[in-house]
Amino acid sequence: MLKFKQEGKKFTALTAYDASFAAAFDSEGVDVLLVGDSMGMVLQGHDDTLPVSVDDIAYHTRCVRRGIKRALLIADMPFMSYATPEQAMINATTLMQAGANMVKVEGGHWLLETVTKLTERGIPVCAHLGLTPQSVHVFGGFKVQGRDASNAQRILDEAKALQAAGAQLLVLECIPVALAKTITEALTIPVIGIGAGADTDGQILVMHDVLGISSGYIPRFSKNYLAQTGEIRSAIRAYIDEVANGTFPSSEHTFS
Ligand code: KIV
Ligand code: NA
Repeated sequence: MLKFKQEGKKFTALTAYDASFAAAFDSEGVDVLLVGDSMGMVLQGHDDTLPVSVDDIAYHTRCVRRGIKRALLIADMPFMSYATPEQAMINATTLMQAGANMVKVEGGHWLLETVTKLTERGIPVCAHLGLTPQSVHVFGGFKVQGRDASNAQRILDEAKALQAAGAQLLVLECIPVALAKTITEALTIPVIGIGAGADTDGQILVMHDVLGISSGYIPRFSKNYLAQTGEIRSAIRAYIDEVANGTFPSSEHTFS
């Protein structure tokens, strides 16, 4: 992904939870697959991601690993599995041994020591800032973050600090387009956006949203590609193409 950023080539990421979808996404050319703790909502039917366990992520990581030939596989560290650096070491080890290439953690300044320790011990880290769903109860709902100047500055500072601590990728979720652009330009590591505009280096979506099978609420930043293509593999190719040529996300999917 670093090469893509350096070459200015937009890349595509998607969540996956099993071997069959992972194989299809991988063979169509999705660059990064994430075993997301979004599974708490889209697989398990919960209202948020908090009930997901390390064992849940490990099981689905083993499944996805068997479907992958070339994509990078990131596994989410679930809620409270990295509350201390020591817990993070133990639980990240489980996910790497399940087949992940990298683990993802939500948070800023408080995570710097953990990011450094994981990286030094051989576990690559993807950071995640903005609307970090594990903190939904602190935010008081799934709300766009970084809208006021001090909040925006804090997110920018945290992004730089996480990169300095060793993070190799950063996910930005539901922040204003301009802030995502500033952060992407300020960092040398690749930035993946969801609800963060078209200026990040890559895009990620939840597979259930792309295929239009999420129950209930469909987030504004998502797009149902199955509706326009009628076939799963074509839907994935349309998503990849629209990210590559910059037509997704358009202003209807972003926050200003
Ligand atoms: O869990 C997840 O699916 C995620 C992505 C939406 C970034 O964290
Ligand atoms: Na997640």
